[in-house]
Amino acid sequence: MSPHGDVRVLTTVTEARRALDQARAGGARVGLVPTMGYLHRGHASLMARARAECDVVIVTIFVNPLQFAPGEDLAAYPRDLERDLDLAGVEGVDLVLAPTVEEMYPEPMRTTVAVPSLSTAWEGATRPTHFAGVATVVTKLFGIAAPCRAYFGEKDFQQLVIVTRLAADLSLPVEVVGCPIVREADGLALSSRNSYLSPAERAAAPVLHRALLAGREAATGGERRPAAVTDRVAELIRAEPLAELDYVALVRPDTLEVPDEVAGGLRLLVAARFGRPRLLDNLSVLASEQD
Ligand code: PAJ
Repeated sequence: MSPHGDVRVLTTVTEARRALDQARAGGARVGLVPTMGYLHRGHASLMARARAECDVVIVTIFVNPLQFAPGEDLAAYPRDLERDLDLAGVEGVDLVLAPTVEEMYPEPMRTTVAVPSLSTAWEGATRPTHFAGVATVVTKLFGIAAPCRAYFGEKDFQQLVIVTRLAADLSLPVEVVGCPIVREADGLALSSRNSYLSPAERAAAPVLHRALLAGREAATGGERRPAAVTDRVAELIRAEPLAELDYVALVRPDTLEVPDEVAGGLRLLVAARFGRPRLLDNLSVLASEQD
C-alpha cells in the first residue's frame, strides 16, 4: 500500500493518458473530478459520487493560472498535497493527476475556450477573464482524461452552467454532473478560501446562507418581483458589518438571466467579500427539488 491508500499519483499528462487508455481498453468508464486542491468535504462529495458511478476515478489538482487575474490570490492560494492525497485515498480515488504549470502549459496558450454570453454577468463582472480561464483548462482536462462523466459542484453555480454549456456546444462526449453544495453545520458553504477568514469573519459568514433562505422564503410566500426577493437578501447581508455585498441575483438556471417574474425553478446567487476572500453561495428557489 502506498501512504495514501491505493491512490496512484501522477504528474505528467502522458502518464495519465497511458493509465486511462489502459483502463478504457478494459471497458472501464472514467469519472473526472477537476479541483484546485486544498480539498475539503465539498470536493469529497464529488469524489464519492464519481466513485459510485464510474469504474475509474481521476481527480486533478491544479491551481490554474489562466483563471486568476493579476492581483488575485494565485500565489497565496492554499495548497497541501499530502493532505489532499489522504482525502482522495479515503474516498477511493484511483488516480490523482497533479501537474506543474509547465506540464500543463509547456508553451504559451494560443487557444482560448470562452462562453461569453454566460461569462460576463455576476462573477464575470468582477472577474472578466476568469471564466475563459476555467473553460480553457476544463476543456484541456476533458481532452487529457476523456471522461464519460465529470463532476462539478453547484457551489460555483455559474461555472457549472458554463461547463455544461461548453460540453453541449462543442459536442464533447462527456456528461457534466452537478452536485449539491456541502455546508458547515451553521450553513456556511465549504470553500478552500474559507481558510482566509479571521475568526470574526468566519463567525459572520453564515449570514450568506441565512439571507438566501430568507430570499427563498419570500419567493415561496408568493413574492413575484425578482427585485423584491433580491432586496430582502441584500438587506440582511448589508446588516452584517463584516460583509461587503458584491451582488445578489435571482436568475434562470440555464441562461443566468433575470426573469420578468418569479416563477418556475430559479437560482438565487450571492457574492460578498469578508475581509480578504470573496465568498459565493446560492440556493434553488421554487424548484421541485430544493437543496
Ligand atoms: P475548486 O474551487 O477546487 O473546486 C473544485 C470543484 O469542487 C468545483 O466543481 C466546485 O464547485 C466544487 N466544490 C467546491 N466547494 C464545494 C462545496 N462546498 N460543495 C460542493 N462542491 C464544492 O472550481 C474549481 O476548483 C476550478 O475552477 C476548476 C473547475 C478545477 C478549474 O480550474
